[in-house]
Amino acid sequence: MNISVVGTGYVGLVTGVCLSEIGHRVTCIDIDEAKVEKMNNGISPIYEPGLSELMTKNIEKDRLFFTTDHANGFYNADAVYIAVGTPEKEDGSADMKFVKQVAIDIAIDVSKDTVVVTKSTVPVGTNDKIKEVIQANLVNNVRIDVVSNPEFLKEGSAIEDSFNGDRIVLGSDSEYAANLIEEVNKGFGVPIYKTDIRSAEMIKYASNAFLATKISFINEIANICDRVNANVEDVAKGMGMDKRIGDKFLKAGIGYGGSCFPKDTKALIQIAGNVEYDFELLKGVVKVNQKQQALLLDKLNERFDSLEGKRIAVLGLAFKPNTDDMREAASIVITNNLIEQGAEVFGYDPIATDNAKTLLSDKMVYEGSVEAAVEGSDATLIITEWDEIKHVNLEVFRSMKYPLVIDGRNCFSLDKMKEVGIEYHSVGRPTDMKKKDYIL
Ligand code: UDX
Repeated sequence: MNISVVGTGYVGLVTGVCLSEIGHRVTCIDIDEAKVEKMNNGISPIYEPGLSELMTKNIEKDRLFFTTDHANGFYNADAVYIAVGTPEKEDGSADMKFVKQVAIDIAIDVSKDTVVVTKSTVPVGTNDKIKEVIQANLVNNVRIDVVSNPEFLKEGSAIEDSFNGDRIVLGSDSEYAANLIEEVNKGFGVPIYKTDIRSAEMIKYASNAFLATKISFINEIANICDRVNANVEDVAKGMGMDKRIGDKFLKAGIGYGGSCFPKDTKALIQIAGNVEYDFELLKGVVKVNQKQQALLLDKLNERFDSLEGKRIAVLGLAFKPNTDDMREAASIVITNNLIEQGAEVFGYDPIATDNAKTLLSDKMVYEGSVEAAVEGSDATLIITEWDEIKHVNLEVFRSMKYPLVIDGRNCFSLDKMKEVGIEYHSVGRPTDMKKKDYIL
């Protein structure tokens, strides 16, 4: 089938490339000319394992195209996917201006019956509005149907997730449109669940809010474990063996970040508020996450009278491993605060340094390796559990002024750290180390 995808951010690009991989002829549209030129040469603007390879392969097979020209991009499309951003507004609600603009562009440029598929995460009721806007501005006499098709891909494993997802959700009030988009997606071999538009829109928010709730829940349990000398990893394992609970998303740490959970939880609180419903539980989830992102600062401040002039190494800057995405990363809150307190901060991330430079304080110093960041520091904070960091030779911490490691992602075994003689604090795991255990 002929498919157009508007917006080549994370969701749009992965969607377009994967649809071309299962045999569709896909044209991706973006307003950014430089980006489009790059993509036409098979260069991915984001770091995502396997993406560039699939881009190059499908460009060569003549079924993946990139353009800035809407009219050209929409020409002959059976389906147009909307995958533009819905940034968070100051009040926490999602900003729909880009989505609305695409709806108008579609109305002006489509010249045959078209199914409009919304991939962007949009408040409940938006797909109905999209249809209204298109109908109101339609230039040619064609039939427009809408399908809500929310995105559940995880950054860092998006390609794999596309072909091994748990479900594809399609919401529509048109049986014809739902069947057509079901056909489009058959090649992924993933179970398809069809429902009405508003339920599909809600499934996305409810799923992300539920996963965020699991994370904030286990983080609170971890904070209590810290105080009662229990081990949150054993607690999570014991809980997860109950199939009703499940063992995923129970990894305690310094909270969730990224482009989805922080934005979608706040948007759902806002959606509930708009219909006069106070989503108290979710408000708690957001509050716990804000507190959790600052946990390492609390632990560090307990340990030092002042951070003025202290050299602090920060390992991992991205919001999670295997991505260069810095959106809502705990590293932002942590490094800004350290710098405010007068510390000298030396950061290292295997991939995200370029993005970090655009977001973090100018006073940050970036190093090219774990070793360089850690050497001579008064404390090391671990923010992101990259494999490279998890598997680092623990002897590296002996090059610090004093071997104090405060780990926000529980990367190391308590026993090993004790054996090597490193003062080690993590999240929700007891430590019986006394001062005399440390090498000074
Ligand atoms: C998430 C959802 O998983 C995906 O379905 C949705 O479409 C977009 O949002 P993503 O943001 O890529 O995907 O990352 P994910 O792997 O889900 O992790 C989100 C955050 O939660 C990360 O900061 C991660 O460190 C944190 N997390 C995750 C935990 O702290 N503990 C966990 O057990 C799992």
